[in-house]
Amino acid sequence: MARIDTDIAHAAALLKSGELVAIPTETVYGLAANALDATAVSKIFAVKNRPSFNPLIVHCRSVEQAALYAHLTDPRIFELAAEFWPGPLTLLVKRKDTIPDIVTAGQPLVGIRIPNHPLALELLNAIDFPLAAPSANPFGYISPTAPEHVLEQLGDKISYILNGGLSEVGVESSILSFAEETPALLRFGGVPSEKIEQLIGPIHIMGDHATSAPLSPGQLASHYAPRKKLILGNADELREKYRNQNYTLITFSKKYPDIAPEKMFVLSEKGDLHEAAHNIFRVLREADKTDSTLILAEPVPAEGLGNAINDRLKRASA
Ligand code: TXA
Ligand code: MG
Repeated sequence: MARIDTDIAHAAALLKSGELVAIPTETVYGLAANALDATAVSKIFAVKNRPSFNPLIVHCRSVEQAALYAHLTDPRIFELAAEFWPGPLTLLVKRKDTIPDIVTAGQPLVGIRIPNHPLALELLNAIDFPLAAPSANPFGYISPTAPEHVLEQLGDKISYILNGGLSEVGVESSILSFAEETPALLRFGGVPSEKIEQLIGPIHIMGDHATSAPLSPGQLASHYAPRKKLILGNADELREKYRNQNYTLITFSKKYPDIAPEKMFVLSEKGDLHEAAHNIFRVLREADKTDSTLILAEPVPAEGLGNAINDRLKRASA
């Protein structure tokens, strides 16, 4: 069984010897390997049961380190990095061949971000290579925002989980691709699209264009999914329609006192989207564990972090 602890030197030693370590980030926990060691990286795909056509994000400690693995030529990259790094924004930029093919799944772009978590940064400073890391969950399931979530699902497959407490942001990074002249947002995440556009002007929003052959598998129609069936809609209408069923309800801010408290989840009683994002994956996990057969959920306001939350709810319902 994996150990949960805060020993940076131990985590660094495991990574140096080609082992995997689960690491905290501000978005979700990651399952990390030395990004320059193709054999170590291949273990990520095995442990997650992840298709090998799905590329991994490379976590760096600095822009200077990122420049060793990617062509950072577009000035907008530096504007974004200055504003949002360390933070929940992944940039897809032209790769250098210093990064192994397995990391990018052979694609011409590499995904790079600097995570904004003190332990992750301390760890990145204790090693001389970047970390390839997807979210530390079995492929397709809900992302982990606490060390215990990782332990529950991958605890028998890895030996160490670096304990950084709860992930502050709670949804994954926003993914912005520089494949073409106009950058494209491939995944709504921790940096709202509005803030990106304020800084660098209009971008293409691809977050909604889910297909079965996606540019970015975070775009797969069914992803981030609980095991139970989840139905998304207006809370009052869903309650009426499924009144004879044993359901769990997830709302943005309204509490229905007639529902048993263990089956009533409010994402943010004060209606705050940051708090709702922080809670969404934990709530989906807990809703998946009740004895109800069905999860009913309502979308949150479609602005700022709300777009990332609604995107995860939509995929959870697919
Ligand atoms: O917040 C996050 O981004 C977390 C933490 C651990 O950093 N990581 C994460 O990784 O969510 P993952 O692998 O679960 O999701 C990354 C998404 C995948 O859908 C992947 O296909 C896409 O990013 N991606 C990564 N590199 C790519 C590339 N070179 N080209 C296209 N898509 C890429
Ligand atoms: Mg993931």
